[in-house]
Order: sequence, then structure tokens, then C-alpha cells
Amino acid sequence: VPKTWIFDLDGVIVETAQFHYKSWKRLAHSLDIPFDESHNEALKGVSRSKSLNIILELDDREVSEKEFQRLMDKKNGWYQNYIAELTPDDILDGIPEFLDTLKERGAKLAIGSSSKNAQYILDYLQLTETFDAIIDGTKVKNTKPDPEVFLKGAQAVGEDPEDCVVFEDAESGVEAANRANMLCVGVGSEEILGDADLVIDSFVDMSPEDLLEKLS
Ligand code: G6P
Ligand code: MG
Repeated sequence: VPKTWIFDLDGVIVETAQFHYKSWKRLAHSLDIPFDESHNEALKGVSRSKSLNIILELDDREVSEKEFQRLMDKKNGWYQNYIAELTPDDILDGIPEFLDTLKERGAKLAIGSSSKNAQYILDYLQLTETFDAIIDGTKVKNTKPDPEVFLKGAQAVGEDPEDCVVFEDAESGVEAANRANMLCVGVGSEEILGDADLVIDSFVDMSPEDLLEKLS
């Protein structure tokens, strides 16, 4: 039975993908780079700078370092306006009950996110106190699919990777969990998350016990 449960934030605890998408689309269109929903999946789980690189490559663009930073800041400004509206009501269905049950069972809980905005989001959702460790984009050098974020999460609570389970909605995150040698539960579509040990639609009506049974 896993002792530490590590959650990705964006797309697992709260749905922020549409905020990232709208902000990147606005930026791409301001640069006359075609960008639509079909490009969005690839941006899930990867860092802000990697995301901007992917967008610029769509149109073989190259920009100076200074311009690159300016574009990231512009996107992040728009994104931060969106997330500032988040409240505890935006926590995804089933998550509060799932986390409460885990806490009652004495499990350790961690966040493993690529986002540099994770701490703001957790504060808006009033979830900061719920987690024993928060490892986010401000604390890692290498972005998912590199396993660093999850390995640091395990380390922060003093757990062996083999005793951790990761929840992820992004292909890059599933790969990161696999490379960290942790169990992985995909949250979303089997088609995208097929490399996870188990894929679930959502946390609605899902207890930790149900989940462990499905995993075994
Ligand atoms: C999460 C999202 C990605 C985003 C990344 C960095 O992993 O799924 O889409 O690019 O965080 O977010 P940030 O808030 O640092 O720009
Ligand atoms: Mg995610």
C-alpha cells in the first residue's frame, strides 16, 4: 500500500488548462502564429519556457532571449488574472473527500507540479495546509517528463519512490512518474494516459480503497 500520495495540481486538483490555453492562444495570435486546441495537449505538464518553445517552433520562429522573457511574462500576466478568480469551489469534484479520507488514514500527501504559480493556486483553493510537501516549478531544474519533481516530493517527506503513487493528467507527467519508479494513476483519457498503471475518469465516488483495489 502506497504511503505517500503525490498529486499533480493543474488538471488533477483544479482545471486550469483552459486558462493556460486562452493565455497562450492570445500570445500566439498576437505573433500571428496559428494555435488551436489541437496543440494544447502537448503543453500540459511542461514548463512555461518549454511551452513557449513549442509554440515558437510551430512557425519556426526565433526570438532574442530578452524577447523570449517578455513573451513569457506577458502570457503569465494574463494567466495570473484568470487564476486570481479561483476559490475552494473550483476544487475538482471528489477531491476534497478523497484527500480527507487519506488524511484520516495517516497517509502523507504531496504536490508535484511544474507550475511556478502552484503556491498561488493552492492558496486561492485554501489547500496549502493539506499537503506535507509542495514541490513546484520554482523548486526543480528539470521539467516533466524528467522525474525530478516527484523524486523531490518523495525525498521531502522521507519516502522511498516505490512507496509513492502519483496522480497525473498529462502524458509528460505519466512518463515522469514511470521514470521515478512510482505507481501512476492517470486522470483523464486512456488514449493519452495509457502508460499509467491505471486510468480513472475522475475522483467522484472514488475512495482510496476502491483505487487500491483497482491498482492491484
Ligand atoms: C502545469 C501545466 C502546464 C504549465 C506548467 C507551468 O504543469 O499543466 O500547462 O505550462 O504548469 O506553469 P506556470 O504556471 O509556471 O506557467
Ligand atoms: Mg497536469
